Amino acid sequence: MKVSTGTGIVSYLVHLTVAVPEAFILGNGEYHVEQGSTINLVCVIEKSPKPPEYIFWYHNDRMINYGSSREVKVHNEPGSKTQSRLTIRDAQISDSGNYTCKTAHAEPASTLVYVSQDI
Ligand SMILES: *[C@@H]1O[C@H](CO)[C@@H](O)[C@H](O)[C@H]1NC(C)=O
Repeated sequence: MKVSTGTGIVSYLVHLTVAVPEAFILGNGEYHVEQGSTINLVCVIEKSPKPPEYIFWYHNDRMINYGSSREVKVHNEPGSKTQSRLTIRDAQISDSGNYTCKTAHAEPASTLVYVSQDI
């Protein structure tokens, strides 16, 4: 918007919107899977002005990105919406619980995973 000040000086009013990154895990907050199958969770980070410096996955309070002996994989796809995919093969009952995706500057996102016994 241009504002005439009568002095020949033109001022501009500038609206600054500060983008706050938002993270969410695809789905409805619950993920049901049978024992032995694969858990696939996707965390989407939106409105991040630059690719997030980190994306960490937690199972309950334990960070699971690195150093797990299990078949846990994290794959990040940068872009205007960064996606981080967590894959856990051969899901066990003990893999049930609260999974959280934490990234820089955004509120963490969580989903509850239920692994049901294969009968
Ligand atoms: C899951 O864990 C996160 C991070 O600790 C917490 O904020 C959230 O409330 C938990 N969700 C449930 C349903 O327990």
